[in-house]
Amino acid sequence: MTYFLTGTDTNIGKTLISCALLHNFAAQGQRVIGMKPVVAGVNASGEYDDVVQLCAASNVSAALRDINPYAFAPAIAPHLAAQQAGIQIEFAPILAAFQTLAQQADTVIVEGVGGWHVPLNEAQDSVDLAKALNLPVILVVGMRLGCLSHALLTVESIAASGLTLAGWVANCVDETMPMREENIAALQQRITAPLLGIVPFQRVPDAKMAAGCLRLWEI
Ligand SMILES: Nc1ncnc2c1ncn2[C@@H]1O[C@H](COP(=O)(O)OP(=O)(O)O)[C@@H](O)[C@H]1O
Ligand SMILES: [Mg+2]
Repeated sequence: MTYFLTGTDTNIGKTLISCALLHNFAAQGQRVIGMKPVVAGVNASGEYDDVVQLCAASNVSAALRDINPYAFAPAIAPHLAAQQAGIQIEFAPILAAFQTLAQQADTVIVEGVGGWHVPLNEAQDSVDLAKALNLPVILVVGMRLGCLSHALLTVESIAASGLTLAGWVANCVDETMPMREENIAALQQRITAPLLGIVPFQRVPDAKMAAGCLRLWEI
């Protein structure tokens, strides 16, 4: 199965959970590839962390231009990074790259950029991209203060987009969050899609360990 992975924000564990999903589906015997259509922000060694991690969790090697059609060095909003680079992010190459990957694997996990509603060019945003890809969505909720509103607004907007929310993951990014279980329960009461797993805070984040926390038979 193929999914669009979104999150309540940037830096809340979309890449970790995307990799966990890839490991999980790979363990079921599937050929899996992670895709990052648009990335912004290079690390100190000149690499794009998300792309490196998704490739490491994939068990099929594919062309980088398909895995990651658009990459921008500055860690800024993607439409601004594109503007600075003098280019426009277009959907056609992303959709073509996705089709190429989909032919090479049983499962493609497409990691979104930032949160759910991120501008990509003058006229289109990441919701339009998810709609163009027409994939079921998995939402990662970064469990920290403020996440309830972010999560519920995102769930509402996914429903308004006409796409299906296949499930959500509670990712405990804040080790010290008070009343974490109660917050997760509050979301469970309000989100009809299944909770696919609670990933605890990990001192050394490990996608394989996170994979063990997911219950994918619900999707
Ligand atoms: N469950 C977790 N426990 C501890 N650290 C986490 C957890 N999930 C993510 N992180 C860390 O938080 C940071 C952001 O995670 P990442 O997956 O890159 O988020 P995103 O893709 O949403 O930007 C990374 O340093 C990652 O290792
Ligand atoms: Mg990421």
